[in-house]
Amino acid sequence: MRVSKFEYNATVIECIEVTGEIKIYRVRMDDGHLSFKAGQYTMLGLLEDEPRIPEAALEEEVEQAADPMIRRAYSISSGSIQADYIEFYVSLVSNGALTPRLFTMRKGSRLFVGPKAKGLFTLDKVPEESHVLMVATGTGLAPYISMLRSRVLADFDRKIAVLHGASYSWDLGYRRELESLSASYTNFSYVPVVSRPKDDPSWGGRTGRLPPILDEDGLDELCGFPISGGKCHVFLCGNPAMIEDAEQRLLLKQFVVGKGREKGDLHMEKYW
Ligand SMILES: Cc1cc2nc3c(=O)[nH]c(=O)nc-3n(C[C@H](O)[C@H](O)[C@H](O)COP(=O)(O)OP(=O)(O)OC[C@H]3O[C@@H](n4cnc5c(N)ncnc54)[C@H](O)[C@@H]3O)c2cc1C
Ligand SMILES: NC(=O)c1ccc[n+]([C@@H]2O[C@H](COP(=O)([O-])OP(=O)(O)OC[C@H]3O[C@@H](n4cnc5c(N)ncnc54)[C@H](OP(=O)(O)O)[C@@H]3O)[C@@H](O)[C@H]2O)c1
Repeated sequence: MRVSKFEYNATVIECIEVTGEIKIYRVRMDDGHLSFKAGQYTMLGLLEDEPRIPEAALEEEVEQAADPMIRRAYSISSGSIQADYIEFYVSLVSNGALTPRLFTMRKGSRLFVGPKAKGLFTLDKVPEESHVLMVATGTGLAPYISMLRSRVLADFDRKIAVLHGASYSWDLGYRRELESLSASYTNFSYVPVVSRPKDDPSWGGRTGRLPPILDEDGLDELCGFPISGGKCHVFLCGNPAMIEDAEQRLLLKQFVVGKGREKGDLHMEKYW
């Protein structure tokens, strides 16, 4: 079915509130299907005359756009074998154009979902036996959740570690699911890291920002496999400043960024 640019083509079937600023949306497409590979993204859209949440900051001034639909890219967090809905993990950008409108959505709300998934941030170029370190700030975790839900852990020769950074422990979405995976799979490690522990005194886990952890002596032990170029693949996703910092540190460990047809073992997806 062809969808006009300005038409809504999907319905929210569930909205899970992680915090006031972070939500998980489950969405069903009218035609029932979106084909995608774990790690890919699609566009979400709402018309500009939709309301914004009242607590949002003033929107940045922009010129009147020809297209009344505000569209942004969102990684899909559901597994590629999950067919009846697709899931998104979204954080509020208070002065943003789309997210203060998205955050008014409830069960039954209508929206636009891009009919095609896009992106190369997938496991396609990673050999099946390769260990994988997945590093994310905030909602940059979404593509990894999709990968983990797409049975990548079933191959016990491969080890996977997730390093997830958030300001506070309550911002660590999918924490229970990841803890449960790490209890069930000996080849999986989950390392949540909180960067503002002063305001989160009950947090007893790792603290700080993610990039310095990549230089720690105990990193290989933490992940369960050696973190050096040629020995595993590393994925970085989320805050662009975190990605740039982490990239510099990983280049010193002989990782190579894939470009065009050239293969690399360092993969990156910047969210803004
Ligand atoms: C490939 C890709 C996948 C993405 N997947 C996700 C996802 O799964 N979940 C998700 O929440 N977001 C994701 N994003 C970011 C998303 O596309 C939007 O940029 C974000 O939701 C803000 O949209 P907005 O219209 O509210 O703000 P905008 O009006 O677009 O931006 C307002 C200002 O905020 C800055 N900004 C944009 N995003 C952020 C952010 N997250 N934190 C802080 N400042 C920001 C912009 O640079 C701009 O200055 C992804 C982006 C890309 C490129
Ligand atoms: N609780 C909240 O206030 C809250 C919750 C969710 C979302 N939001 C809003 O939503 C947007 C996205 O928030 P988010 O939490 O998903 O992502 P974020 O602001 O990028 O923060 C996620 C993690 O990335 C860290 N980080 C920030 N800059 C970094 C850098 N240069 N290098 C390495 N690490 C860095 C943060 O550390 P620091 O903590 O040290 O910054 C935090 O641990 C922002 O606009 C934010 O204001 C706010």
